[in-house]
Amino acid sequence: MKILVIHGPNLNMLGTREPEVYGSLSIEDLDAAILSYAADLGMEATTFQSNHEGAIVDKLQDFADHDGVIINPGALTHYSIAVRDAISSIPIPVVEVHLSNIYAREEFRHSSVTAGECIGQISGFGHSSYLLALRSLLER
Ligand code: DQA
Repeated sequence: MKILVIHGPNLNMLGTREPEVYGSLSIEDLDAAILSYAADLGMEATTFQSNHEGAIVDKLQDFADHDGVIINPGALTHYSIAVRDAISSIPIPVVEVHLSNIYAREEFRHSSVTAGECIGQISGFGHSSYLLALRSLLER
């Protein structure tokens, strides 16, 4: 199984960005943990980060080489109909993940416009949210 992992805006700042909320792992550490756990599960993961909505839409449309997608849309979660439409346009399963528990934070983070087009959402388990998403795609 080939899995595409997409990190949205500001996730390149992991490690230094609000570590009390997002943890101390850098995005390189996070990607290494994802790749290693995927290999343990017999899966192949590739990762991609962008601060740009259109680049994320382009990446989702480029799904053809993959069997599933894990996406942390970052702030785009809360308002991007373009990312939502891109998710609903592709025929492979997409899992939405968040490092923090978006439902335990500011009210504007409580709604996700993208999760409804995903097979599910995993929120609040730090970097393990991504690992749980890999497992869920494998078991599906
Ligand atoms: C986030 C939660 C979002 O509300 C926020 O804008 C992010 C990160 C998370 O992983 O917890 O950038 O998606």
